Amino acid sequence: MSPIWSEYKQSLSNVMAKDRHALSRRLSEVEKLARGQKPFEESLEKWIVKRDASVAQVATRQALIPAEIEFPELPVCERRDEIAELIAKNQVVVLAGETGSGKTTQLPKICLSIGRGTKGLIGHTQPRRIAANTVAHRIAEELKTTLGDKVGYQVRFSDQTSENSLIKVMTDGILLAEIQTDPFLNKYDTLIIDEAHERSLNIDFLLGYLKQLLIKRPDLKLIITSATIDLERFSKHFNNAPIIEVSGRTYPVETWYRPMYESSSEDSEQEPDQYAAILDAVYEIDAYEKSGKGNRGGDILIFLSGEREIREAADQLRKAQLPHLEVIPFYARLSLAEQQKVFAPHTGRRIVLATNVAETSITVPGIRYVIDPGFARISRYSYRTKVQRLPIEPISQASANQRKGRCGRVAEGICIRLYSEDDFNSRPAFTDAEILRTNLAAVILQMLQLRMGDIHDFPFIDAPDHRLISDGYKLLEELHAVNSKNQLTPVGQQLAKLPLDPRLARMLLAAQEKSCVRELLIIVSALSVQDPRERPIEKQQAADQMHRRFWVEHSDFLTYVNLWDYFETQRQALTQNQLRKLCKKEFLSYLRLREWRDIHHQLCVVIKDLGFGVNTDAANYEAVHQSLLTGLLGNLGFNHEEREYMGARNRKFAIFPGSSLAKKTPKWLMAAELIETAKLYAHTVAKIEP
Ligand SMILES: Nc1ncnc2c1ncn2[C@@H]1O[C@H](COP(=O)(O)OP(=O)(O)OP(=O)(O)O)[C@@H](O)[C@H]1O
Ligand SMILES: [Mg+2]
Repeated sequence: MSPIWSEYKQSLSNVMAKDRHALSRRLSEVEKLARGQKPFEESLEKWIVKRDASVAQVATRQALIPAEIEFPELPVCERRDEIAELIAKNQVVVLAGETGSGKTTQLPKICLSIGRGTKGLIGHTQPRRIAANTVAHRIAEELKTTLGDKVGYQVRFSDQTSENSLIKVMTDGILLAEIQTDPFLNKYDTLIIDEAHERSLNIDFLLGYLKQLLIKRPDLKLIITSATIDLERFSKHFNNAPIIEVSGRTYPVETWYRPMYESSSEDSEQEPDQYAAILDAVYEIDAYEKSGKGNRGGDILIFLSGEREIREAADQLRKAQLPHLEVIPFYARLSLAEQQKVFAPHTGRRIVLATNVAETSITVPGIRYVIDPGFARISRYSYRTKVQRLPIEPISQASANQRKGRCGRVAEGICIRLYSEDDFNSRPAFTDAEILRTNLAAVILQMLQLRMGDIHDFPFIDAPDHRLISDGYKLLEELHAVNSKNQLTPVGQQLAKLPLDPRLARMLLAAQEKSCVRELLIIVSALSVQDPRERPIEKQQAADQMHRRFWVEHSDFLTYVNLWDYFETQRQALTQNQLRKLCKKEFLSYLRLREWRDIHHQLCVVIKDLGFGVNTDAANYEAVHQSLLTGLLGNLGFNHEEREYMGARNRKFAIFPGSSLAKKTPKWLMAAELIETAKLYAHTVAKIEP
């Protein structure tokens, strides 16, 4: 009897995803032998053994699925059958629902209930490791299994999955990294990309990559979950994939608007006192509970824009000496173990001071109140000045709603917004996708590193402009990060590891070789914030005179180092109040100086992780400027007539009048920025020898 090839082919739908491709290819080869009248029986038998082993593995996995999966009473579960059917019938489904409706915890279980997870893992991605960790815990608990068994998780430095794992929760960064070794993602039979509305670069890379992969992996299912924003976009991206919107939530959350006191003083440096407003909110919660309206002792989650703000808020709360109060910080740089403290049971009232890491996905059971001052540090790239900055900005409505969603998860909740309702309504609906806020050179660098393919053909949800792409490549070539064939060089590979603007990263890399990391850290962080020196029009001369004290012959860059050292000395000698006064008198912006220190601190952490050494002796002029030059080759200038300079691509510019070199006219110079105002001016310049 002759073999029935079509049946063999069909049986491939019952094998593990990871074996499917190899088995299918081998089968074609065997079939070819048969058609060519060559001996094939032995090969076919071997093939059958392999196929059966794979089918058996599927059956083993099938047996691991609990016979009865319990679903709690959540909006997503109420529409479970409908969701299951959509998933079964479509390759891609977009699921949206309010915070707390059960998207994250219930979807993987719904997938399991229809037999997904048997031919490969159900991969479930989260934007942050703490979320990956706690979500995995929760799903394991609901499925009555121990973590690391049927439900595993993987974050950087920690892989807790096993042979038995059916569901694997991970950060989106982990899945992206896996593409480099397993381009077909054959380990998975289902992928859930959670929190897609966050639109981080990682998520955009994944959604673009998956669009191409789904054609080659017809057996792979993809579910995208999102808050209820811009769903059509996701659907369109995946050939009009069906959208299912789940409405309703389990517990109501009340919103109180308590705008911070706006200072009417003329002093623009006066910030509205965020900490006083936070304290007021805490007192209000206390009074509310004492009046018998709320349950006593609910925990409070407060969102702050950075670690320094968290420290300051913690100080103020401790000073207020509220009884039975425990204050704990929660931010990305803490270890997982430290972060997990937030979830540990406790007595008394707890206040969690968190950055944006707590904004999405996580459920901290005791939290009944959220206090949201409404700000976050948001990374932004300016094509005009060519610098990536991290300004503190008002958050979008979507972010505010995610924050609010952190309470009301296991009981009713209250969210206190320290801004007005009008303010809320006037905010943008959501934060721009990260790709629109990032230097494209940095995006290209990452794509090359992740082997995402050519950016020109990559199906982005928001495709960047072609002109900007070629600018990005040009810059990378200038930095020697790519070669003339647009391939990553060893320098490029190192740059890709530094989470910094590529220009600045290039300078720090050079500084490491030339032992001037201390100086470059100061300069690079100065270039990432607005100039802390103030030059009010009516007092320009007085200001210039003060600032001239920091000048260094031939270089505005080293001026920053002088200013830094001066400020550090003063900062250690004076009280905060004295320091503020000094700054005002000397035409320095206290807020921007503080911003500068924040960025400096962040950079220190990054380079410490990468094992960079910091010099203790002062570096020499050449070392500092040669390092700077590696990132500023595009901003060289040659003095070709009077005060005018000729730069790359025939751009003509002059030295900005505020520069220490404005009257010096060196033959060659480099500039940190070329900015077009009245005319094209070079800002922050230094003399160089060609
Ligand atoms: N660790 C936990 N402890 C207690 N209850 C939990 C936990 N995790 C989830 N829940 C319950 O399950 C509900 C749904 O949580 P889930 O994270 O699945 O919602 P979601 O729709 O993904 O929300 P979000 O948009 O905020 O990510 C929560 O509101 C809460 O009632
Ligand atoms: Mg979720």
